[in-house]
Amino acid sequence: MDPVQVGLLGLGTVGGGTVNVLHRNAPEIGRRAGRDIRVKLASVRTLQSDRICDTSAIELTTDPYQVVNSPGIDIVVELIGGDTLAKELVVQAIENGKHVVTANKALIALHGNEIFELARQREVMVAFEAAVAGGIPIIKAVREGLAANRIQWLAGIINGTSNFILTEMRDKGRDFDDVLAEAQALGYAEADPTFDIEGIDAAHKLTILAAISFGIPLQFDKAYTEGIGQITAADVTYAEELGYRIKHLGIARKSESGVELRVHPAMVPERRLLANVDGVMNAVVVHGDAVGPTLYYGAGAGAEPTASAVVADIVDVVRVMTSDPEHHVPHLAFQPNALSDIPVLPIDAIKTAYYLRLYADDKPGVLADITRILADQDISIEAVIQKEPVDDEPRIPVILLTHSVPEQRINAALKQIEALSSVNDKVTRIRVETLN
Ligand code: HSE
Repeated sequence: MDPVQVGLLGLGTVGGGTVNVLHRNAPEIGRRAGRDIRVKLASVRTLQSDRICDTSAIELTTDPYQVVNSPGIDIVVELIGGDTLAKELVVQAIENGKHVVTANKALIALHGNEIFELARQREVMVAFEAAVAGGIPIIKAVREGLAANRIQWLAGIINGTSNFILTEMRDKGRDFDDVLAEAQALGYAEADPTFDIEGIDAAHKLTILAAISFGIPLQFDKAYTEGIGQITAADVTYAEELGYRIKHLGIARKSESGVELRVHPAMVPERRLLANVDGVMNAVVVHGDAVGPTLYYGAGAGAEPTASAVVADIVDVVRVMTSDPEHHVPHLAFQPNALSDIPVLPIDAIKTAYYLRLYADDKPGVLADITRILADQDISIEAVIQKEPVDDEPRIPVILLTHSVPEQRINAALKQIEALSSVNDKVTRIRVETLN
């Protein structure tokens, strides 16, 4: 049989890794797919550029539309990122009857509902394993391996760059900007690294995971998103003293009233496996009613780990490209006409424990004022620590750990505490997740 012809959109970190893996493992991959796979054409920004892969057998073009319009291409692999040009190209490829593999989480989280509907009408596949958690086959695990379960919740470290920064800050006391620059140099960070550090990248991925876990449409606009920008070295140290690690988590949980969809830094007890996932590694815990907790761990970014997921998708597409489209695995795990309209809950509705760090005057009555405000909101305190003054800060750090409380009440209490003249006007709040 003739080889399957692949067209790449983008030949950067992941594109180069994909070419290398396809070339190095060609015999194994061909035996798995049932056909040889050939990268025939690739669009690039500039023809003359240093690349991590050998392009001597690939036709290069600076016109990405040539890839999606070329009649000889069976599968278009979109690796340029972003959600404008990438969307136009993917839509055009589908309109042309081509199957699509993408690593683009923004594209799927923002436009997946529309893209999957178009793909269904055109009877082509859109595969997106590499969009979530790099090389970890989490989409396949949730969509197929856990198909027997009612999935109750999932929690994951799904942004490698943030995890790398938090780990280096904790282990080596390194400066935030310095570690971010290294993550960019290693190809972990997004083109716009604010997507990593402000939690947007993780929210894209969580949106996808929640959709395939609960059978709901993709709803990125309803995700609560908070990044790691407010976390200081002091918070990292205080968390350790209390027996926790600070991790940037994506959490989705289903209850009677709705679905929680939230991305934020969290204090995780240090005995939990997720607390010990370091560097650029990602990990996701998925809790199903039948199987209980399951854990998926691996490299969340980087050329070949992400290429591993891209190539697995290409193999999947090759295996089923001639089969009846009615029998393909549904894009969002559940049949398109069986999605649920259960609402995504506002962040105010969640209930969890909190770490609060504030700077207060070291004089009688200040702590009493703070604890009175908490008591008035019916917030119970688990621990209070008063620290020595740091640097030239005239006020002393006070750390409070609360018991579990609705977010609405913590917000009301923080507003009053921040208004006290004896307290600095910004209290740091980190949610505590025991992941039980
Ligand atoms: N910027 C992403 C990360 C790349 O750091 O996790 C993988 O999606």
